[in-house]
Parts: sequence; C-alpha cells; structure tokens
Amino acid sequence: MLLEKILQSQGFGSRKYCQQLIRNGSVLIENQVCDNPKQNFNTDDLNFIVFGEPYQYRENVYIALNKPQDYECSHQATHHQSVFSLLPEILIHRGVQCVGRLDQDTTGLLLLTDDGQYLQSLTHPRKHVPKIYHVTTADPVTPEQIQALEQGVELRNEKGIFAATDVQLISANQLSMTVHQGVYHQVKRMLAAVGNKVDALHRHQIGQLELPDLAEGGWMYLTSSQKQLSQNIVLDE
Ligand code: URA
Repeated sequence: MLLEKILQSQGFGSRKYCQQLIRNGSVLIENQVCDNPKQNFNTDDLNFIVFGEPYQYRENVYIALNKPQDYECSHQATHHQSVFSLLPEILIHRGVQCVGRLDQDTTGLLLLTDDGQYLQSLTHPRKHVPKIYHVTTADPVTPEQIQALEQGVELRNEKGIFAATDVQLISANQLSMTVHQGVYHQVKRMLAAVGNKVDALHRHQIGQLELPDLAEGGWMYLTSSQKQLSQNIVLDE
C-alpha cells in the first residue's frame, strides 16, 4: 500500500496532510526517514513512527474502554463529556463507534470499533450476546425480586419478556446479573419492574470478555483472542 494511503487509513488526516507529513520527514519506517508518499509497503506486521511516536498498522481497531461516570456514549454529548474525548484523535478520524451504549451514569466495559461487521455481530437483536452487570440497588434485594428477574419481566413499549440469568446476590444491596438483549435502560427498567431501583450500574463482561485491568477512563486495543471472547466465542485452552 502507498505510504500516504497507509497513514490516511490509520487516521492521520487527509491524503494531502499525510503527504506533507511524509515529505517533511516526520515518518520513519524501520528507523529510516521515508519521505516518499508514493513508496509501497506491505502492511502485514508494519510498524512505523510519526512525530517520534510508534504505531502498528491495523486494518481495523477493536478497543476496550473502562467508562467512567458522567461520560456520554455520543459524539455530540450534550450534558457531559463524550467518551470519544478519552481516545486519541487518530481513532476518532478512523470513525470508531461505540458497540452499543452505556448510560451516562453507567461505568465499566465499553467496546468501540471501526469494523461495521463486528459491531453488528455484537449488537444485532438476534445475536443475544450476554452481558454481565453489577448492580447496586436502592433497597435490599429480596429473594422474590431475584426470582422475578430470572422468570422475566415485561417492559413498557418493548415486545417479549426480559429475563436475567445467573442472578447472584453480592451483598444486601448488590447483585450480579446477565442480560441477553440490549434495549434502552434495560437493567434499570428490569429492576424497576420488580420493585427496586438502580443506584449504580457497572458492566463487568461482554460475551466471555471481562473488563480488562484498566484505570477509569483508560483504554486498550483488544488482542484477537479478546475480540473473539467479546463475541462470545469460547476459545480452546
Ligand atoms: N442497562 C441500563 O439500564 N443502562 C445501561 O447503561 C446498560 C444497561
């Protein structure tokens, strides 16, 4: 691929801007300045340096972010900051999108990608990728509420029954539950439907992928096995 195309595909800016970067000597490949925008490179395992920063060529990006409270999953955030402000600009230029949304006050595992097929594979209503939430409730959780969550509840303006699996009490006001759909405010509405209220909500797992060890607001690229885990593909040991 032409060097100017490589930089453009990785989110460094317009073709013209990438040509300028290359011509002014800001791009190194194998520790050599490469100032010819038309030079061809094989992108397999390609590493390069721009303005002294190392990068790896990635055809698509798959990102896990530990979402803090008071961030919105939208580019045009209205009342709070946008989760996209936690990512470097080259990822925004690549057009990364949130894989489903978390509410502004929900914390934990948020995936982002620029791969439309992957996004569909996790968010399509027929896929039912399980998601594990840790819920802090306003009132102590009763055995009847756990039973009702597992049996399933109806939600206003939504078709069907919404049931949780693996509902486990962590403490009097805290439970862990797995949900298999992703409708608007699902966990909060399910808890309201059984007569309780969510005080805090944290997403711990998507598919088989647990929230990696990231500081609040921190992010990382998923490895290919982490990507498969997020798609609920069980990997051999
Ligand atoms: N369910 C909710 O109610 N909110 C979220 O952010 C995610 C799931």
